Amino acid sequence: MNKRLELPKTKDELYDLSKSFNSTFNRLEKSFNNHRNFVSTISHEFRTPLSILITELELAKELNKTIDDYKISIDNALEDANRASELSSALLDFARASYDISQINLKTIRVDEVLADAKLNVINKNGQYRVAIQYDNDVTSESSFFDMEGNPYLLQVAFVNLIENACKYSRDNTCNVKISNDDKTIQLHFSDNGAGIDSEDIPHIFDLFFRGKNKKSEKGNGVGLSIVHQIITIHNGKIDVKSKLGKGSVFLVSLPLEI
Ligand SMILES: Nc1ncnc2c1ncn2[C@@H]1O[C@H](COP(=O)(O)OP(=O)(O)OP(=O)(O)O)[C@@H](O)[C@H]1O
Ligand SMILES: [Mg+2]
Repeated sequence: MNKRLELPKTKDELYDLSKSFNSTFNRLEKSFNNHRNFVSTISHEFRTPLSILITELELAKELNKTIDDYKISIDNALEDANRASELSSALLDFARASYDISQINLKTIRVDEVLADAKLNVINKNGQYRVAIQYDNDVTSESSFFDMEGNPYLLQVAFVNLIENACKYSRDNTCNVKISNDDKTIQLHFSDNGAGIDSEDIPHIFDLFFRGKNKKSEKGNGVGLSIVHQIITIHNGKIDVKSKLGKGSVFLVSLPLEI
C-alpha cells in the first residue's frame, strides 16, 4: 500500500498517468489507515463494558449464595449489557453518519417536526428532562419555512444528542431550543444553564471518544458530539459552541435549505 510509481523525467502522458495513479493510492492509503484506526479504537472501547460484564458474572457464579445475591448480580449485569448495547447503537449511528451524502436517502423534511420528534424521544427516555422549543419568527403551523432537503433519521439523532447533553450537564435538566430561519439557512440554538465546558476541552469535544473534565459521574462514551458533527457536516451545515464554565453552553447549528 505504501509503494508509489517513480515519476518519469519528462512531463508527458505517462507522467500525468503515474501522478494520478500515485494520488489515488495516497487517498486509498489514508482511507485504509482511518478505517484501521477506527476498528481498533472501537474494539478497545467495547472491551471495557464487556470485561466488566464477564467479571460480574464470574464472581456471581463463584460467590453468590442466596436468591437476593443473584438478583443483585443480574441487575448489575443487565446494566452493563445495556451500556454495551447503547455504545453499539451510538457507533452504528456514527458509521451511518460517516457515509458519503450521496449514499444517504434524502427527502424534503420539516426541521421543526424532526425537532419535535427529537424532544419526544428524549422525554420518553428520561422523564426528568425538560425541553422547551421556541420559534424565533412569527411562524404559522402550516409554514414551509423550515422545509429542507435532509435525512430525518440522522437529523433526529443529532438533535437528540444535543438535547440530551444540555439536560445531562445541567442541574435543572433543561434544554432550551430556539429555531429560526432566513432565506438560505435554518438555525437552531440548543442552550442550557449547566456546568459549561472548560476552554481547554472545547477544541476536542467533537473528537470520537473525548469526554470533558465536567463528565463527573454522568454516564457516556464521548461519542455523541462526534456523531452530531458528522451529521451536520454531511448536510453541508455548520456547528459551533459557546460556553462559560459554571454558566452554561449554547450549541449553534446552521443548516442550508439546499444541500
Ligand atoms: N451541553 C453541554 N454542557 C457541558 N458539557 C458538554 C455539553 N455537551 C457536551 N459537553 C462536553 O463534551 C463532551 C463530549 O460530548 P459527547 O456528547 O460527545 O459525549 P458524552 O455526552 O460524554 O457521552 P455520549 O454522548 O457518548 O453519551 C462531554 O463529555 C462533556 O464534557
Ligand atoms: Mg453526549
